[in-house]
Amino acid sequence: MAIDQEALERQLEQLLDVESFDPPESFAGAALVTERSAPADPVAYWAEQAGALDWFEEWDTVLDDSDPPFYKWFVGGKINVAHNCLDRHVEAGRGERVAFHWHGEEGETRDITYAGLLADVQRFANALKDRGVEKGDVVGIFLPMIPEVVVAMLACARIGAVHNVVFGGFSPEAVRERMQFSDAKLLVTVDGARRKGRVAPIKQAVDEVMPDLPCIVVAHVDNDAPMADKDAWYHELVEAAAEDCPAEPLDAEHPLYVLYTSGSTAKPKGILHTTGGYLTQVAWTHKHVFDLKPEEDVYWCSADVGWVTGHSYIVYGPLCNGATSVMYEGAPDYPHRGIWWELCERYGVTLFYTAPTAIRACIKWGVEHVERFDLSRLRLLGSVGEPINPKAWLWYWKVVGGEDCPIVDTWWQTETGAIMVTTLPGAQRAKPGVAGTPLPGIDVAVLDDDGNEVPDGTQGLLAIRKPWPSMLRTLYRDDNRFIETYFSKWDRTTYLVGDAAKRDDDGYVSVIGRVDDVINVSGHRMSTAEIESAIVSHAKVAEAAVIGQADEDTGQAITAFVTLEGDLEGTDELVAEVREHVAQRIGKLARPKRIIWADDLPKTRSGKIMRRLLRDIAEGRELGDVTTLRDPDVMAQLGERVAARQAAGEE
Ligand code: WTA
Repeated sequence: MAIDQEALERQLEQLLDVESFDPPESFAGAALVTERSAPADPVAYWAEQAGALDWFEEWDTVLDDSDPPFYKWFVGGKINVAHNCLDRHVEAGRGERVAFHWHGEEGETRDITYAGLLADVQRFANALKDRGVEKGDVVGIFLPMIPEVVVAMLACARIGAVHNVVFGGFSPEAVRERMQFSDAKLLVTVDGARRKGRVAPIKQAVDEVMPDLPCIVVAHVDNDAPMADKDAWYHELVEAAAEDCPAEPLDAEHPLYVLYTSGSTAKPKGILHTTGGYLTQVAWTHKHVFDLKPEEDVYWCSADVGWVTGHSYIVYGPLCNGATSVMYEGAPDYPHRGIWWELCERYGVTLFYTAPTAIRACIKWGVEHVERFDLSRLRLLGSVGEPINPKAWLWYWKVVGGEDCPIVDTWWQTETGAIMVTTLPGAQRAKPGVAGTPLPGIDVAVLDDDGNEVPDGTQGLLAIRKPWPSMLRTLYRDDNRFIETYFSKWDRTTYLVGDAAKRDDDGYVSVIGRVDDVINVSGHRMSTAEIESAIVSHAKVAEAAVIGQADEDTGQAITAFVTLEGDLEGTDELVAEVREHVAQRIGKLARPKRIIWADDLPKTRSGKIMRRLLRDIAEGRELGDVTTLRDPDVMAQLGERVAARQAAGEE
């Protein structure tokens, strides 16, 4: 049955008038949660949910809130994440269940069972110990989407080492910075990473910037990676290591990982997550938001493990719940633009979780790549990472979901660790473009600058008013920045999210976007300051201001206004040079889409760059008040440049 593109457009257009969608009856009838209720006592509620995990020792205190914002959950409890993700399934006779159907870029396949994963994790945990890694040490992980990344994370968790995973798309320079900030003892990496048929020599590139850091190297592409005495091959270590490595009983508040994310300054923030509370909320949300029935479902989260979505919803949530997942090494358009849907058919995926930017790419590529495959086993779809525009939502619902799958639009952050706002799919209607309500036990509000709740329908600042189990505990080695960034806008108990939001009459929250200097490109958080500092480090650049410009495909796109040293002229070659320079410093994902040469930047009299005005100019809006500018003429000149480029059809 071929879908006529024009007819589809018309249908989507009409659907835009539908405010909300009930879950299909067949779904609601069998759902794990059929009624949403807000518990009267959130703390007791979370204690009950923590009971679903295996504890070596029960906690004495559910929540210690005596020193806000430094909250502690399940104090006195002893637990191990790897034990919960592996041993207890194997002990209960589920060892032969597939944890991951791994699918390589060139079509290779590997099915990894829970028993197999447990065996690998124990050996690699012993290998880490043999290399001198102790409880509390930080281990860096810079790996592509291969099963070893999961083994490495769980091996750390098993012995109480703290992992610091860096997304494979970051540059070695960005990895170096993150290893240095966290004082990583060693780095688990790979000889080379495959991307769309090419191989990037990762180990060699890592050596160039970190010649002294010991590496454990996964042999993945056979490219003769340089190895020094400080380095070791993953497979050789695993082979030589002892088989048994008991899971260490760890304090509920023992650090599980640090994950660097972008903030409003150039220095990335090391978000610290701990053990018991994190696993409680991650497992609860993964099970109930995705309505997971682990015996029957096949789940696929298409994120990369290097982001928090991968940590919580590829690794920890699904494994803790005994799920069977798909893990795909490649890009969504390699070897062809229908590969995701081919894999959904092949593995019988029932629950699929992705990002709006990916959906928009699929829309662009055309329905023919989707309809070629049998997606009839799908029963739920999820979205994460940025606001999903109603049109993309409706396309996802209709073309991928066949009008028969509820969509959960999940709002959360690296800092929150787990989903906070969404709809429980069997219990609540979904509204395209609106995330949903706070989950049970979560207290989310929309506030004004003074901390008062704004009326429904009015935009305000998203806030979280009560501690939640999977919350970040601090910024790694930077308690002051933790307090300043998140708990100083109103008081020490109210968390400032950094997003603008509004609530409707049904209590549904729509998240509008960031209010700080953070840009969300394809669901990836980038700091304007970090990109500016990378641009300015180019020898020919004097000054730069970076903004997030609304973009049809990527949500936001990076636009940089750049002034050059002396009398240098901005040329196309220089555009390419600056973009490449940013790729080297941070990674390709941070390369500006547009560079606009400026003689000067709009600044207040005190010298602060007015980014708001630059956004107005880039998006072609009427300019607001420019009288506070030191030199109002600057804006006229920039306006002309942007207009000239648009007229020249460069956009
Ligand atoms: C945005 C990703 C609207 C938001 C899990 C948040 C969203 C930032 C949604 C966190 C959503 C995430 N609707 N906006 N469903 N999900 N965001 O830390 O601005 O990479 O603050 O975590 O993404 O990005 P992060």
